[in-house]
Amino acid sequence: MITIKDKKFELFIQHKQIEEKISMLADKLNADYQERNPLLIGVLNGAFMFAADLVRKLTFSHEIQFAKFSSYEGMESTGKVKELIGVNAVLKERDIILVEDIIDTGITMHNIVPQFKAQGARSVEIATLLMKPGKLQVDLDVKYCAMEIPNEFIVGYGLDYDGQGRNYKDIYVVKN
Ligand code: IMP
Ligand code: MG
Repeated sequence: MITIKDKKFELFIQHKQIEEKISMLADKLNADYQERNPLLIGVLNGAFMFAADLVRKLTFSHEIQFAKFSSYEGMESTGKVKELIGVNAVLKERDIILVEDIIDTGITMHNIVPQFKAQGARSVEIATLLMKPGKLQVDLDVKYCAMEIPNEFIVGYGLDYDGQGRNYKDIYVVKN
């Protein structure tokens, strides 16, 4: 059990299981991306730890960059998510893999994917560590997902509660 600010969290997914699920996801990417030299784009801040562990399991040549997008809070699902830190690579004819920590409503990815497609990418796929299928609000094609979880708030392994808790190697769920 851990405490972050005003909330208590309990152990939810152990690091060993996270590692196994990332290996399985990496196997799928390794099968699909040989000879394609894709550009992986890690979505800051939450995906930094997942991206670091994922790329160490990839056997194909690739590049990785990181991008940061403004929160969509207060915006409609059709609203544009702004790029705060961008990608300085030519995306034309590139295969892009967006590396995300967790897909909740799906609104962030729903807004970002078309922005990359508009820059001429050959393909844009999503590789996410976690997904809450019960909370998805938009039509989103998530080709690579390591783990599905129920509608609970979690922290650790890159994910935060109010900016804190990203450092834990395991994932914790909020205790009500
Ligand atoms: P979406 O646009 O609703 O899919 O939001 C996805 C983003 O919300 C993720 O990249 C996370 O930064 C954040 N998020 C969603 N669920 C959680 C959670 O349970 N814990 C921590 N952050 C979360
Ligand atoms: Mg995120």
